[in-house]
Amino acid sequence: MAGDRRSGPSAAAAAGSALEWRADDEFSLDGVSYVCRPRADTVRSSADRFCIRKPRKIVEHCEALVRRLAPRRIAEVGIYDGGSMALLAQLARPERLIGFDITENPSPALEQFAAAHGFSETLSAYWGVDQADRERLNSILDEEIGGMPLDLVIDDASHLLDESRLTFDALFPRLRPGGEYVLEDWAWAHAIMEVWPETQPLTVLVAEATIACAYHPHVISSIEIDRPWAVIRRGEADLEPATFSLRGSLGARGERLIDGMLSGGITGGGSASGRAGPAGS
Ligand SMILES: C[S@@+](CC[C@H](N)C(=O)[O-])C[C@H]1O[C@@H](n2cnc3c(N)ncnc32)[C@H](O)[C@@H]1O
Repeated sequence: MAGDRRSGPSAAAAAGSALEWRADDEFSLDGVSYVCRPRADTVRSSADRFCIRKPRKIVEHCEALVRRLAPRRIAEVGIYDGGSMALLAQLARPERLIGFDITENPSPALEQFAAAHGFSETLSAYWGVDQADRERLNSILDEEIGGMPLDLVIDDASHLLDESRLTFDALFPRLRPGGEYVLEDWAWAHAIMEVWPETQPLTVLVAEATIACAYHPHVISSIEIDRPWAVIRRGEADLEPATFSLRGSLGARGERLIDGMLSGGITGGGSASGRAGPAGS
């Protein structure tokens, strides 16, 4: 367990946060408690006590984002045991919150939480869905929200480049202009302890989004990045969920830059002693 177990005031508390922190890895909101990373993996979720695989910093980012954006329709990719969906439901009280995960097993804790807190009509969790399966993501969203746009997408799934890019291509066009796409843990390749040295870093997707923001600001109007996450804001261009490709928004020079980054299978990894996965997974 990391760090100091005292909760202490934080920037979020100073800004009127609704979260009551008991320690840096545990908080509660309206009678539901959440155990965060790094302790999360030791806790089995129940309807009133979830593990949430985020550190305090990302939880605070989520709360601030929800206050700022007030999202009504949200898609989250990578939902683990339902903790992040439960938190988003409590914070945003959205019209629709749709989650996807490759794991086949549903979360009984999330189902019980939704029933107990009146979110059964709001939350839909889809299990056994690969984030790289663009057709499936789109057909589920067609069924769930039809032509209504999303306000917020959060990708906290594989953190792998190709998979995350496919999800971006599928879901970014479904945001309304001004809607926001969050890439959690994009910086895993730059941890002090090297992870996944043979794997192409998610950094490339952030670089592509940055280039698109320069070359095609009507597609990506702005990006805000810090270490825990990147927030990519949608511009006003008409984008087609079935065919949009971030690659198509880079321009010839941008494409050459990205190809240079990826040429020869370069991952930037060097150490032979990689750990099992990114700190954020
Ligand atoms: C970091 S956890 C998500 C944590 C959750 N958002 C939270 O804050 O508690 C990553 C999740 O992504 C899922 N995942 C991994 N690869 C995936 C893929 N290709 N498609 C969809 N989900 C995937 C894993 O099953 C896991 O539940």
